[in-house]
Amino acid sequence: MIYLTGDTHGVLGSRRLTADRFPPGRTPTEEDMVIVLGDFGLLWSDPPTDREASELRRIESLPWTTLFLDGNHENFTLLNALPEEDRWGGPVGVVSPHVVHLKRGNVYTLQERRCFVLGGAASVDKAWRVPGESWWREEIPSLEEFDRGRVALERVGWSVDWILTHTAPNAVLQAMDLGKYLAGDPVSDYLDELYARATYDRWYCGHFHRDRVFDDGRFVVVGEGIVEGGAGTFLVSDGDRPGLCDRLRGMGARRPREGD
Ligand SMILES: [Fe+2]
Repeated sequence: MIYLTGDTHGVLGSRRLTADRFPPGRTPTEEDMVIVLGDFGLLWSDPPTDREASELRRIESLPWTTLFLDGNHENFTLLNALPEEDRWGGPVGVVSPHVVHLKRGNVYTLQERRCFVLGGAASVDKAWRVPGESWWREEIPSLEEFDRGRVALERVGWSVDWILTHTAPNAVLQAMDLGKYLAGDPVSDYLDELYARATYDRWYCGHFHRDRVFDDGRFVVVGEGIVEGGAGTFLVSDGDRPGLCDRLRGMGARRPREGD
């Protein structure tokens, strides 16, 4: 089985990655994978804080393998320095044997499903962030990474089982009333092409801190919920409303919120 969840944003949300959060009888085993759809955020401080290091050790010790795409709030200096290996048909960054970064523009075969992966998004809060300390220009894929994605999709005839991204095409942003708030993200512009052209069974994305389903279940936005990827259904969900973090919006808390 493959399970998917949305942004963890480092130690703020990484405690969600725990066996207790799954319904009774549905705890993933060593055969299973849990994918965080970007803004994993646990590779953030350099050197890592004690909490980050202990969370990474705890997640490594979970029964399953944890995979993550990159989002926009990541320390790309650390992500790009991870040792690289070939796994599941493409290059991955290895944090530890069972904690692995899926890289942009690749098609991986995960449990016999062809999955196109493209992380990254534009940060709406970058004006308040410091380049190289809390914001990295690599949040937007390079032209090479965008091209790699097109080449990888060409190779499979633009047909995959799943598309895994951090953000969403513009049509989905608009459907969530975030079209103006998140306008002008070059990653969404790129994803528009996939949305129009690619054939896929399901598209999963994070970034918005809410659980929503569009296109008769084919497009699934995952916040703090957990989706069983094969069925495309939420095992755990905060419902069709913003997550707790978003509900704190406007209260002055510097917490991740929708589109962070
Ligand atoms: Fe994000």
